[in-house]
Amino acid sequence: MYQYTCLNPIAGVGLDLFSDEYKKVDDLKDAQAALVRSAAMHDLDLPDDLLAVARAGAGVNNIPLDKCAEKGIVVFNTPGANANGVKELVFAGMLYASRDIVGGIDWCLANQSDENIAKTAEKQKKNFAGTEISGKKLGVIGLGAIGVLVANAAVHMGMDVYGYDPYISVNAAWNLSRSVKHISNVEDIYKECDIITIHVPLLDSTKKMINADAIAMMKPTAIVLNFARDLLVDEEAMVDALAAGKIKKYVSDFPNTTTVGAKGCIVTPHLGASTAESEDNCAIMAVREIRDYMENGNIVHSVNFPDCNMGACLTAGRIGILHKNVKGMISQYSTILGDADINVADMTNKGKGDYAYALIDVDSPVTEEVVNQLKAIDGVLRVRVIK
Ligand SMILES: NC(=O)c1ccc[n+]([C@@H]2O[C@H](COP(=O)([O-])OP(=O)(O)OC[C@H]3O[C@@H](n4cnc5c(N)ncnc54)[C@H](O)[C@@H]3O)[C@@H](O)[C@H]2O)c1
Repeated sequence: MYQYTCLNPIAGVGLDLFSDEYKKVDDLKDAQAALVRSAAMHDLDLPDDLLAVARAGAGVNNIPLDKCAEKGIVVFNTPGANANGVKELVFAGMLYASRDIVGGIDWCLANQSDENIAKTAEKQKKNFAGTEISGKKLGVIGLGAIGVLVANAAVHMGMDVYGYDPYISVNAAWNLSRSVKHISNVEDIYKECDIITIHVPLLDSTKKMINADAIAMMKPTAIVLNFARDLLVDEEAMVDALAAGKIKKYVSDFPNTTTVGAKGCIVTPHLGASTAESEDNCAIMAVREIRDYMENGNIVHSVNFPDCNMGACLTAGRIGILHKNVKGMISQYSTILGDADINVADMTNKGKGDYAYALIDVDSPVTEEVVNQLKAIDGVLRVRVIK
């Protein structure tokens, strides 16, 4: 029996995926697995029995990743689970920026008591006219979970799509429509595109990626969409460019005092993933990740340990060893197992930064004595007998 706790409300459609082997407990100190959304975990005491934390969402800055790693706690997140929710809002942003839908709605509200509003509207509507997105050039910067969905959907909307991502994953490349034109110099996107949307992670290398120089290359009719992170854009420069009429609109999902109310800015309150479906998808993915780790020892979508997947165990036993990513660990494991007359049937060892994970299938049961010997190796953080 495994025990888990939820540090925030987690969608029932996900929790329903726990089998009878799992029991929900109220207190973290009794749990082997924890599901979390935004609860701050930095100051929590992490119990020794806690094996896994799954964040139902992408960002993990509420979780002490290194502290967890040092205690042998694997932290998971759910990348891509909310990608469709964000994609759909990107198209809403594109339409809001292309046509003055907000101005039109405001006009209707301001004239709600006018009995002749229908007639007046026919005269006023030219003030809110805009352009269509079909046939326009869309530049997508970052072709990951969200960028690929945006690019593919834009192709179906009749847009001419340009994609830029020097680090695109094989998986994303497989999923990308063949109609998306590959751009190797991001400046071509700034210069050529009518609408530009950014979908990269916030890193030192991407901070203020869309800066004053980039904005200066854009067409005066350009629309920039930012549903990734506000710090990716030099928003002071953006607001200045909008005020000077050097570009048309900036749509952001990250309200702050620079952009809210500034001329040409359309700002939403971080609504990208705020859909019932996104929350369900995150919960489903988080529970699946926890189950695969608890039952099979597989790590998929961890942020503090490497991914490592050997499927279900078909041999007599399986052990998982979380350890420091230093040399000489594997030879020590095989010596201990060999001395105990335990044959290794299959094995994977993966490293990520300072930490590593070895998953070992063996042909005979692993004794407590062997486990204690493995635990005693300098650099070993946790040893689990999974089967
Ligand atoms: N608005 C919201 O509510 C919301 C919700 C989820 C995610 N996000 C944000 O959306 C962004 C994208 O998320 P995702 O799930 O698609 O991430 P992802 O990791 O799946 O994809 C990011 C892509 O950016 C690429 N990339 C990295 N550096 C790049 C660079 N310098 N130039 C071009 N491409 C680069 C990577 O190769 C990767 O393909 C992130 O910033 C994330 O925080 C926002």
